[in-house]
Amino acid sequence: MLRITHQSTSFHIEKLNAFKEEAIKAQQLLQSRKGPGNEFLGWLDLPKRVEGNILESVDQAAQRIRSQSEVLVVIGIGGSYLGAKAALDFLAHQHSGVEIVFAGHHMSSLALQQAMDRIQGKDFSINVISKSGTTTEPAIAFRLFRKLIEDRYGKAEASQRIYATTDGEKGALRTLADQEGYTSFIVPDDVGGRYSVLSPVGLLPMAAAGIDIQSMIDGAALARTHSFNNENHVALEYVALRNYAYANGKKIELFASYEPALTALGQWWQQLYGESEGKDGKGIFPAVVSFSTDLHAMGQYIQDGERHMMETQVVLKNAPVQIEIPYDEANLDGLNYLKGKTLHDVNTSAFQGTLEAHEAGGVPNICIELDRADASVLGYTFYFFEYACAVSGYLLGVNPFDQPGVEAYKRNMFRLLGKPGI
Ligand code: PA5
Repeated sequence: MLRITHQSTSFHIEKLNAFKEEAIKAQQLLQSRKGPGNEFLGWLDLPKRVEGNILESVDQAAQRIRSQSEVLVVIGIGGSYLGAKAALDFLAHQHSGVEIVFAGHHMSSLALQQAMDRIQGKDFSINVISKSGTTTEPAIAFRLFRKLIEDRYGKAEASQRIYATTDGEKGALRTLADQEGYTSFIVPDDVGGRYSVLSPVGLLPMAAAGIDIQSMIDGAALARTHSFNNENHVALEYVALRNYAYANGKKIELFASYEPALTALGQWWQQLYGESEGKDGKGIFPAVVSFSTDLHAMGQYIQDGERHMMETQVVLKNAPVQIEIPYDEANLDGLNYLKGKTLHDVNTSAFQGTLEAHEAGGVPNICIELDRADASVLGYTFYFFEYACAVSGYLLGVNPFDQPGVEAYKRNMFRLLGKPGI
């Protein structure tokens, strides 16, 4: 499913082994379920917990959405939408369910208007996702889209078209969902937002879009088995490598890919690692680049700028489609030397050439290869990165499951807006 195919020679084996030992200890702490934040370890078992009833009810709701609507508006922010977005982009060549429009992940009037324009003249349903049920961005977007859907279909039909994914007991969204009779799904108490992709948070939008969620869970379950049988050596290897680089001044980790379809996965990874590790004055800064596009924007800095970064290249072993470069009689563009090669061949050479250049320029690289762009590989990958993130956080000595720092801007914003009680 997923493997490390390359690591820079600058990682010295003895020093790396010391970090592996640390990673093993951190893994033991995770598996003992006695580490900091252990009340939020429910994600470890999600592949087992969603099997059966939950997958079935998500699937039924998804079928109903597809029969009702051409568009599903997915309202959520952070962990409440990034996983679904990652899956939709990565598997865009495979799914053919409803069109998904994301909203509620910003406070931009322009972006919200554009999302509203996309449902003009189309039947739509809404999946509002908020674990707390009180986050400002999705709450505002939901207030606006709820008005639209109620104006369009009337209150009774609208409540049949609204699907809420939230806490089982508390929060404004739970109260509203119960009061209005929305179909609802539960974000388990012991699963934090950024670890929730394999719960109904991610699964309902994916299923509505036509993604095979059973395969996704099967892939994640395999990663779980490998992790708990201590066969997930790749996760420990990844943890050891990135922490080794960090200890040697590489404060930034670039998630680099050569498929635009992987950029949203990078953004999901970025939130996961940023919120989990960036605290107590510590943590690798996670950043995302999409090559070769960003080689024409960030390439200069990566090659020659300050030497404070490492790269994790995430590459696809097999391209889902093959496009051959054609012969051209006139050859004015000088590209006939590529005749008969595929675009994937060119992309692979760009990857290898860049890897060589960046390593020569002092950027240590870790290459993670994914077998295919399908749901089971993605399920495996989601679990792999979550597991590695938790182990890495424990190795670093932080609680990987809280996010106290995100409250600071909210307090200021509420004060400026005159929110009562602030
Ligand atoms: O990882 C997290 O906990 C956060 O990024 C949340 O997912 C995000 O803030 C959205 O929270 P909620 O689902 O409560 O609206």
